[in-house]
Amino acid sequence: MSERVTRLRALVRQAGAQRSAGMSTSREPDEVVAELDDLTVWFPTPAGMVRAVDGVSLQVRRGETLGLVGESGSGKSTTGLALLRLVDPTSGGVRVAGQDVTRWSRRRLRALRRRVAMVFQDPHASLDPRRTIGASIAEPLIVHRLTDRGAARRHRVEELLDMVGLRRDLADRHPHELSGGQRQRVGIARALAGEPDLIVLDEPIASLDLSVQAQIMNLLRRLQRELGLTYLFIAHDLAAVEHMSDRMAVMYLGRIVESGTPAQIWREPAHPYTAALLSAVPVADPRIERQRRRIILSGDIPSPVDPPAGCRFRTRCPQARPDCASTDPVLAEVGPEHRAACLFAGDAVRAMRTP
Ligand SMILES: Nc1ncnc2c1ncn2[C@@H]1O[C@H](COP(=O)(O)OP(=O)(O)OP(=O)(O)O)[C@@H](O)[C@H]1O
Ligand SMILES: [Mg+2]
Repeated sequence: MSERVTRLRALVRQAGAQRSAGMSTSREPDEVVAELDDLTVWFPTPAGMVRAVDGVSLQVRRGETLGLVGESGSGKSTTGLALLRLVDPTSGGVRVAGQDVTRWSRRRLRALRRRVAMVFQDPHASLDPRRTIGASIAEPLIVHRLTDRGAARRHRVEELLDMVGLRRDLADRHPHELSGGQRQRVGIARALAGEPDLIVLDEPIASLDLSVQAQIMNLLRRLQRELGLTYLFIAHDLAAVEHMSDRMAVMYLGRIVESGTPAQIWREPAHPYTAALLSAVPVADPRIERQRRRIILSGDIPSPVDPPAGCRFRTRCPQARPDCASTDPVLAEVGPEHRAACLFAGDAVRAMRTP
């Protein structure tokens, strides 16, 4: 695991330098492209109401990558799907490109799905096995009536293949003839086709080999630099999110528990859950690694059908105190652009980290 993270970091570092160099050009400062306002998404199931997303507010600004990290089941994908209205909000609001899309009808949603595109974890499952690669990439062009049929469409498909670094002759192949990395490039080409305002990347590298993961991350960063793209980057791998993101948010049981820049989160986590996640990420320097304390969380994530009262992390928090059972902490400022939802933010983390 340690070696894996170290290699991954080395591979993406180069792209990081390129990215910061190119970032200032295409960016309107602080223009909000997409916004969730106290969103809840609940699913009725035989076991009860699953509170997949339970009061999430976030803003994605033009030209940035907002990283969303958290354990399996914390509600990351549901949050991403809500931005495309692929799930219906139970309450709260969804705004995209200045428009309130919370209650848009199915017909209007077609326009939204051009503005927001999604890349999924498993490119094999998201591509139709019977269609050629060219036909898959052309589909959004047809649905959104973006090119005339014939030569213009063929030309645009070739252009999209070029952009994601695939040979043009792959247009006539089928998904099973491509590698995992090539298929994910096709998924990215499809997402680019409608020139969206926002691309939701839901674990885009999780199913790929290590060296291919770095290639796809580098491709995503190059495309962002060249096209001024905006990303919501979802992953459970904290190291990957740190390297991809300008800002990041940590989710636990349907809520954002901490948000800030990767540097803030990495150097001074304010929520005990973030501190625990970070303590599990190996550090390359063996001297630092030996001095670090691994914070082991007891138990599993509680069921989202019946989240704990008060702070929902308290059942696993090594620093939980009586107040945590009675008060549900809000996401409050702990520094500039740095927020945490913990009654004892900062203090609790310091206590956990002191041997
Ligand atoms: N359509 C659905 N019906 C019922 N429950 C659902 C549905 N979609 C998601 N859930 C539940 O909602 C919770 C959040 O799921 P979600 O897929 O958003 O989490 P995630 O953070 O993306 O997890 P992972 O890392 O495993 O992808 C989980 O408990 C999941 O089982
Ligand atoms: Mg998911």
